[in-house]
Amino acid sequence: MWTERQLATYRRDGFLVQRGVIPPERIEALRAAADAAMAERADNPPEVHVVREKSGPVRSVFCAHRGIGPFRELCRSAPIAGPIKQIFGNDAYVFHSKLNYKESFEGTVWLWHQDYGYWRYDGVDDRMASALVMLGPNTRHNGCVMLIRGSHRWGVLDHYSDEVTTSYKQWCITPAALRERITGEAMIIPIEGDAGDVCFFDCRIVHGSNHNLSPAKRYSLIYAFAAIDNVPAAVENPRPDWVVARQFEPVTADIAKPAPSM
Ligand code: SIN
Ligand code: MN
Repeated sequence: MWTERQLATYRRDGFLVQRGVIPPERIEALRAAADAAMAERADNPPEVHVVREKSGPVRSVFCAHRGIGPFRELCRSAPIAGPIKQIFGNDAYVFHSKLNYKESFEGTVWLWHQDYGYWRYDGVDDRMASALVMLGPNTRHNGCVMLIRGSHRWGVLDHYSDEVTTSYKQWCITPAALRERITGEAMIIPIEGDAGDVCFFDCRIVHGSNHNLSPAKRYSLIYAFAAIDNVPAAVENPRPDWVVARQFEPVTADIAKPAPSM
């Protein structure tokens, strides 16, 4: 459980980093499961969806939380589900999950965006937050996530759809909006850390990450959560269920109800 102060920091900054909250034995199981899922053997559950870089290596493994034990268990565990329940003051379900892998020297960029810049087109409201779990070192050199403190209070900026930079269609903030808002490098916070560290972040915070220019592989696992009653309304071109949930099982069911706050 977070303290009132941690929750207040999260609300002020739009993110909170916690060090060493996932025990090493859990990380070991997750790493083994990640490598097995990335090998795309026949035993991957059917919901799992793998996206590869243009050059070949795996970029993302979506939806591992539904059928792969260690991924399923982690999002229900107290260090993850506890803070999520406090953030929403309510139960939560997994909107989607992705193991975002960056192969050494090959893993590519995620351009600056707000998650809600495109999730809003999935028919949900903005009661959403993510937990990024580091399954190994995340550094400036291997393309750790970078974010802009307080940018969750900027409203939703203009996004455009980029289908050329990487193998994955991404909604990104326009360069004009970026130049207007991100006016100095000091505003950019690299979220560096080690296996077991977790960064919780608001769905409106501006974030992105660089190419992996290092010999170290980057393993980042991101769970995106929505408040339990924030289910996608019907939209014109719904995205598939490996990226927009159609199942709304609460992952917070075993976590104590948070005390009313603020
Ligand atoms: C994301 O914003 O969804 C991914 C960022 C990253 O994995 O670097
Ligand atoms: Mn994102």
